[in-house]
Amino acid sequence: MSHVAKAYDFSDRDAAYRDLARDLTALLSGERDLIANAANTAALIYDALPDLNWAGFYLYKGGELVLGPFQGKPACVRIAIGRGVCGTAAERRATVLVEDVHAFPGHIACDSASNSEIVVPLLRGAELLGVLDIDSPKLRRFDGVDQRGIETLARIFIESLQELRSTSENAGEAPASVELKNRR
Ligand code: SME
Repeated sequence: MSHVAKAYDFSDRDAAYRDLARDLTALLSGERDLIANAANTAALIYDALPDLNWAGFYLYKGGELVLGPFQGKPACVRIAIGRGVCGTAAERRATVLVEDVHAFPGHIACDSASNSEIVVPLLRGAELLGVLDIDSPKLRRFDGVDQRGIETLARIFIESLQELRSTSENAGEAPASVELKNRR
């Protein structure tokens, strides 16, 4: 589908996040590819939310987080579980909201412009798919309203992937059935 970039009115943030949730649902509908949907989710968020310098995904692969689709400056590629804001959110399986990244022990500075950050873990049941990471050059950019809104967007993204059999298949690696066939 096509998507026409539009301005969201964040003077009423609850309403803006509701509009964004509706538009993300429409944008991802009918498509289940993880990379495609992650790319469009990152692009929509980066385009819509004011005061961001980075928005994107780290995907859980081989026991660590690996850079996925994003908008913003080039970023570090691999993050261990438990390291930085992203690895902490993945380890805790809970959103980490950082008002001042310089006060967060172990924060990984990919873009020196970042001053605050929110990281939402992507969970499908007990399975960790990765994290959604959003950075701002403003201190205290994110609060509970943003957390609720962004967690809803993350849930819409995860639900768009339903019926996929495994993360490795989804990440573009050969599914088990293909590997078996090739071995014959
Ligand atoms: N700041 C993150 C690293 C990723 S970049 O912000 C894109 C962290 O501490 O995990």
